Amino acid sequence: MSTIQPEPVLPSCSHEPEPYTGPSRDEVLALRRQYVSPGVFTYYQEPVQIVEGYMQYLWDDTGRRYLDGIGGIVTVAVGHCHPKIVAAVREQVGKLMHTTTVFLHPTMARFAEKLAEHFPSGSGLDATYFTNSGSEANDLAATMARLHTGQFDIISLRNGYHGGSANTMALTGMGNWKFPLPHSFGVKHATPGYCYRCPYGLEHPSCDMKCAHDVAQLIDYETSGKVAAFIAEPIQGAGGVVDPPPEYFKIVYDIVRSHGGLCISDEVQTGFGRLGSDFWGFEAYGVVPDIVCMAKGIGNGAPLGAVTTRKDIASCLTQKLHFNTFAGNPVAMIQGLTTLEILDGDQVQQTAHEIGGYLKERLKYLQTRHDAIGDVRGKGLLLGVELVVDRSTKEPATKLTAAVHEGARQRGLLLGKGGVYGNVLRIKPPMCITRDDVDFLVDTLDATLASVG
Ligand SMILES: Cc1ncc(COP(=O)(O)O)c(C=O)c1O
Repeated sequence: MSTIQPEPVLPSCSHEPEPYTGPSRDEVLALRRQYVSPGVFTYYQEPVQIVEGYMQYLWDDTGRRYLDGIGGIVTVAVGHCHPKIVAAVREQVGKLMHTTTVFLHPTMARFAEKLAEHFPSGSGLDATYFTNSGSEANDLAATMARLHTGQFDIISLRNGYHGGSANTMALTGMGNWKFPLPHSFGVKHATPGYCYRCPYGLEHPSCDMKCAHDVAQLIDYETSGKVAAFIAEPIQGAGGVVDPPPEYFKIVYDIVRSHGGLCISDEVQTGFGRLGSDFWGFEAYGVVPDIVCMAKGIGNGAPLGAVTTRKDIASCLTQKLHFNTFAGNPVAMIQGLTTLEILDGDQVQQTAHEIGGYLKERLKYLQTRHDAIGDVRGKGLLLGVELVVDRSTKEPATKLTAAVHEGARQRGLLLGKGGVYGNVLRIKPPMCITRDDVDFLVDTLDATLASVG
């Protein structure tokens, strides 16, 4: 068991927040309770009111500073209120806040061109349809796959999360995100490459990748034998940062394509350099999808998503009218384009690789100090720490995770939480985080685990 350490201190920051003069946390909480749907949930027993952000830090209404370890949520790619983005958005807002895609505007076309440059050459992935969110992007991808193939069934993965709209709730493979509605019509959920909790109780590599090969059985037994698509996150985010073995997607993509289906990569969390090794999650697994869905990091906080595919697939939408009022909005477009320029120009992916590697190494060391840490996994700055009651039974430590989550917040560190049992701490900070921030983050987890464990 660990020894007690001195309280970790948040690294200094040159940014001075403006004095906050708005309603207090308690006043806002009362308003929310009275006027906002109770379905809009908050983190923490005493929800935090965030009123300002700068790069990797956030300030609450009392002026207290936090390290943002979850990037709210996995969305802030290059830093809160990055000065270049603020300047570009301010300029755009002063000129034109809205026009729809029935008129031309330069930024959408330029952004689509720049996005296309980020896909593997020869992949043909160059036709983008912008949306307002990840759910919309996945929804549209499923529609396109069904139209293009003339098939209906879609294979997705247990433990995957693809959104909260009716169709994407169907694609999602976690009961805690599904309502008791006819939710999964036309969707079959295959077994994920969740080695720590192997669905077959096997071990990699002697398992021979049974989880991936089972997709063939699923298609043969539960569909007509032809499918429209397979959709998956390269690393499952909300499901608890589940990173399958390297060969997983190659096997599944081959099976799906041999049954007539398209392969969709949900890059909402894994894209834009977050994995450090590669710009896209699919590249880290050596596959090339037919359709790529994006959101979150694409806009560094703008309500923005996108679907990029080949023109032969994208053209299916021309059979009828398809329109999205706010998608392609010039303010969101300039935010996305500027984010991409910063990602390219400021070597953000390299930071994710280096700082993420250092963070994972330190978390692995923490695992040697705390029995509650059953697994540390993920890549770059998309990391997860799975907490268990007992390492041999792997019983999920749901209550302990909630206590650590809360305790870290009290020490100035905001983290995410995930997994079907809510027992995985999700660490996905803005990609401008420093080594000093990492030391603070890990020392805070260490101290918190020691105090609540
Ligand atoms: C992998 C993944 N896909 C899709 C979504 C849905 O995105 P949105 O909340 O923007 O609709 C999310 C959101 O958390 C996600 O993590």
